[in-house]
Amino acid sequence: METKTAKLLDGKALASQIHQELTTKIQELQTQIARPPGLAVLMVGDNPASAAYVRNKEKACQLVGIASYGQHFPQDTTQAELEAVIHELNQDSRVDGILVQLPLPSHLDAVALLHEIHPDKDADGLHAVNLGRLVRGEPGLRSCTPFGVMRLLQEYNIPLRGKQAVVVGRSILVGKPMALMLLAADATVTIAHSHTQNLGAIAKNADILIAATGIPGMITGDMVKPGAVVVDVGINRITDSQGKSRLVGDVDFDSVAPVADYLTPVPGGVGPMTVAILLQNTVKSYQKSQE
Ligand SMILES: NC(=O)c1ccc[n+]([C@@H]2O[C@H](COP(=O)([O-])OP(=O)(O)OC[C@H]3O[C@@H](n4cnc5c(N)ncnc54)[C@H](OP(=O)(O)O)[C@@H]3O)[C@@H](O)[C@H]2O)c1
Repeated sequence: METKTAKLLDGKALASQIHQELTTKIQELQTQIARPPGLAVLMVGDNPASAAYVRNKEKACQLVGIASYGQHFPQDTTQAELEAVIHELNQDSRVDGILVQLPLPSHLDAVALLHEIHPDKDADGLHAVNLGRLVRGEPGLRSCTPFGVMRLLQEYNIPLRGKQAVVVGRSILVGKPMALMLLAADATVTIAHSHTQNLGAIAKNADILIAATGIPGMITGDMVKPGAVVVDVGINRITDSQGKSRLVGDVDFDSVAPVADYLTPVPGGVGPMTVAILLQNTVKSYQKSQE
């Protein structure tokens, strides 16, 4: 007998489709706006994972025709120095998006820095003004990862209205904006976190289950409702039993795949969508800069 297995939500394929659409859009807009769109990714210190993410983002920019104004600062850079750079970029008419790569070294206050970014150049959608717009249901720049998840669900025609959605994780980066976006799509939303009791029973209620905890493989097949849609936001580097390093999600793929109807792979699911939405936000600000 053939074992049932979930259909994969292919974020890599959809991201590359979005990249193509953006390339065309930028070429069209550039006939009116006499410059390419610009994105400044600011990185502090030498965290290897952050460096890899920054390289990825810059490569994606190059692919679609966005100019990169990224800057890499030494570990001991001060808050005041970074604020001054952000203020300059806020005024720089070549720059449409500014992003501070997180995490920052511990002597820096990330939230205070994010608030120095002009809300119209907030490519990551993490400024209080943009998060407030999300809460109020107003247009604005949306946080890249949860918006990427919404776009992926839409691509596969996953119905959300009236469905039970459970978001595991409540960070400002992922869990909270994710829950608000699902709510705006008329799902009935439960948010779980590290103090949640009976997580298994709550998760098993979900038609749509989003895992964003940073705990490798914590969502197992027994916590998933048969036929559910499971989105794995987690990106965790682990060393396997053979001593090899590899990326895994927050979902235990092998036990969940036979239970769920849809599942995102790691890598190749939510990760590429996050980058695609970052570029999309930059192009949105670029277009708006001329209005
Ligand atoms: N795919 C992408 O593009 C992308 C983008 C961003 C992040 N990520 C990945 O997504 C994951 C989450 O990132 P994050 O920034 O949201 O992490 P985070 O800021 O560390 O937040 C983790 C959340 O998980 C909750 N949590 C921890 N242990 C739990 C448990 N046992 N049961 C239920 N909830 C628990 C925490 O609850 P408390 O609030 O109670 O502490 C917290 O709300 C990480 O693997 C990260 O690498 C991926």
